[in-house]
Amino acid sequence: MNKINAAITGVGGYVPEYRLTNEELSKMVETNDEWIVSRTGISERRILKGLGDHPDEQLGTSHMCKFAVEELLKKTNTNPLDIDLILVATVTPDYIFPSTANILQDMIGAKNAWSYDLQAACSGFLYALATGAQFIESGKYKKVVVVGADKMSSIIDYTDRKTCIIFGDGAGAVLLEPTTDGTGVQDFILKSDGSGVQYLNCKAGGSRKPASIETVQNKEHYAFQEGATVFKYAVSNMANVSAEILLKNNITGNDVQWLVPHQANKRIIDATAERIGLSPDKVMMNIERYGNTTAGTIPLCFWDFEKKFKKGDNIILAAFGGGFTWGSLYLKWSYNA
Ligand code: UT7
Repeated sequence: MNKINAAITGVGGYVPEYRLTNEELSKMVETNDEWIVSRTGISERRILKGLGDHPDEQLGTSHMCKFAVEELLKKTNTNPLDIDLILVATVTPDYIFPSTANILQDMIGAKNAWSYDLQAACSGFLYALATGAQFIESGKYKKVVVVGADKMSSIIDYTDRKTCIIFGDGAGAVLLEPTTDGTGVQDFILKSDGSGVQYLNCKAGGSRKPASIETVQNKEHYAFQEGATVFKYAVSNMANVSAEILLKNNITGNDVQWLVPHQANKRIIDATAERIGLSPDKVMMNIERYGNTTAGTIPLCFWDFEKKFKKGDNIILAAFGGGFTWGSLYLKWSYNA
């Protein structure tokens, strides 16, 4: 019998309506459209606004997950009661606990599923996809929903021009099901290096530095990044790991139809594509419209460009982010949209 692979059998996505343009940002901090576009490739990002069910709460990451997954279930004609497992990759959960995946499970009526969050910053969706695939490949489960979602605007300091220009809000979701036709997840290489914590982090709100008046005053609940250092690591590691997975699977850039990279900075994406010998027309990019949605970027590319994928296409996913975490995943697309 052929090996069971985990196939992506559908995609869903959601981005909030509000568009934060470079022009609006240039009224908030000392920056301009020309600098942002030339240094990052970003023109606008989406921001989730509005209040939640409780008067003292805003809409959280789960709100975006709900829309993304409801669309996914509709498109794939899936009954929520048939879902076995829900994984949500995020660094901006609704609460410290319980997990956003638990909240989502209730929102979509997936009463028979168990659910948990997984945190690997910008590599979160890759980590979650590789994890979800294990439950399918082992034969344990038939339907696993994997979501990548972040409300980055909830941890961004809109007086810090080095970070506020990059990030945005959004959610993307995929359904994983078993296949024996040879498509689906083929391989992955995932890596971590915890010594990178100093360059990209959120200092307070965890057990080392619980929230206090001082942590708020010192702006320690916002995302911090030493941009140029992160950029350097991102360029070399994302490119290297993408080259490594091609070599490991005995394929070259000529065999690859699409690179779907994490959307952090157009210059990082271009460097990765060049390293594995892919022309720009084989690279999926929507960074100009959404910015960096952290765990949301890769599934939002699937969502935006679903119609371009053909069954059997060789696709390389690649990401780099806080931790540091990074990796690459080789996928054969499983359907014609
Ligand atoms: O998602 C996963 C993790 N994150 C990333 O992968 C992001 C990686 N880093 C980056 O994408 C880039 O480092 C940034 C886009 C964040 C910054 O670009 P950069 O080319 O690395 O700029 P820089 O931080 O080295 O700053 C260069 C100059 C500085 O001015 P001086 O000191 O040379 O006078 C900055 O103050 O650009 C200045 N600058 C800005 N100017 C206008 C920094 N931010 C801005 C801005 N507008 N928004």
